[in-house]
Amino acid sequence: MQKRTQEVYDSLSRPLKDLRISVTDQCNFRCSYCMPAEIFGPDFQFLKQDELLSFDEITRLARQFAKLGVEKIRITGGEPLLRKELHLLIAELKKIDGIKDIALTTNGVFLVKQAEKLKEAGLDRINVSLDAIEDRVFRKMNGRNVPTAPVLKGIDRAQEAGLDIKVNMVVKKGVNESQIIPMARHFKGSGVILRFIEFMDVGNTNGWNFQSVVTKKEIVEKIDEVFSLEPADANYFGEVADRFRYTDGDGEVGVISSVSDSFCSSCTRARLSADGKLFTCLFAQRGEDLRSVVRSQMEDAELFDYLISLWKDRDDRYSDERTEETVKAKQNGPKIEMSYIGG
Ligand code: GTP
Ligand code: 5AD
Ligand code: SF4
Ligand code: SF4
Repeated sequence: MQKRTQEVYDSLSRPLKDLRISVTDQCNFRCSYCMPAEIFGPDFQFLKQDELLSFDEITRLARQFAKLGVEKIRITGGEPLLRKELHLLIAELKKIDGIKDIALTTNGVFLVKQAEKLKEAGLDRINVSLDAIEDRVFRKMNGRNVPTAPVLKGIDRAQEAGLDIKVNMVVKKGVNESQIIPMARHFKGSGVILRFIEFMDVGNTNGWNFQSVVTKKEIVEKIDEVFSLEPADANYFGEVADRFRYTDGDGEVGVISSVSDSFCSSCTRARLSADGKLFTCLFAQRGEDLRSVVRSQMEDAELFDYLISLWKDRDDRYSDERTEETVKAKQNGPKIEMSYIGG
């Protein structure tokens, strides 16, 4: 018989609360910090259809993860809205006991078409990546010369559909720093929560170095000079972004500071790649092949025990340990790209 729900803790006493599921490694953008066009060109070999987990396989795994304490599921990519009929997966995930929150991270271009269907299927929230409000800067950053208009329309449509929205802006020194204030101004008072993300050394194709990071301190000081900010408490244990509210009551912004102020000690996240590998850290260099497991004869009870053993062994804390040496070691090791592991 299948065992009851059992909370599981890793070797650093962190529970498993969030499952981030990538549903495709493909994207219609080529953001320089994630899928640089020189590397992800016409000959790049993306995963083949039969290598992807099916919706049934994803749902079966998610059900076991929920029994281990997972309450939040985030669908990512690549660009997850490129996966056909994604709303059908969301509807299945919504039925799982214990799942309280289903969110999606997207570049927003396909929201105009899909927002309503996703909401009806049970999606709660959307985080949209948008790195600039000025067309000239955004066109350059997304590597496909796409203007901001389709993304902004997508955000509007998702808001109209009743979805909670956050916007993520990755800040790269000398590239889109100029957009911090215009982005803050654009979203202030709109009901959309803008979050600034420190540029990270994920994968090893994006030319990262410490000098290309604009830190949380610099970002907050810059905004505070124009719109006064005060720190706010986290909404929940392990929230990735630090929150700052506008003192005039016009909402809040967040900063995700994986480089200057890491948050591994409260990291409750596991990541499932589109081809079914389980990664226990964004910076892990290998994942456990769960696709072979779900395609084997293994029963659910055995699968459950296997997942428990994987999480119990976890000791990842890459960002806490980041130094010039760890960055170099990772850059010379296997390549696990953000577009593959899903952010
Ligand atoms: P909320 O549930 O809305 O708080 O979502 P979130 O912040 O976890 O999700 P989102 O996908 O918007 O994450 C934003 C970005 O934060 C990601 O794209 C990553 O760049 C970064 N991030 C999220 N989780 C982690 C993590 O565990 N480690 C590190 N280093 N960065 C993370
Ligand atoms: N550093 C920080 N954030 C990144 N993202 C992708 N690559 C990086 C990086 N190198 C973010 C995107 C998006 C999410 C999927 O991951 O902006 O919000
Ligand atoms: Fe695509 Fe998002 Fe990566 Fe940009 S950051 S290339 S939108 S997956
Ligand atoms: Fe979690 Fe790894 Fe990010 Fe640290 S670096 S917060 S362990 S995913």
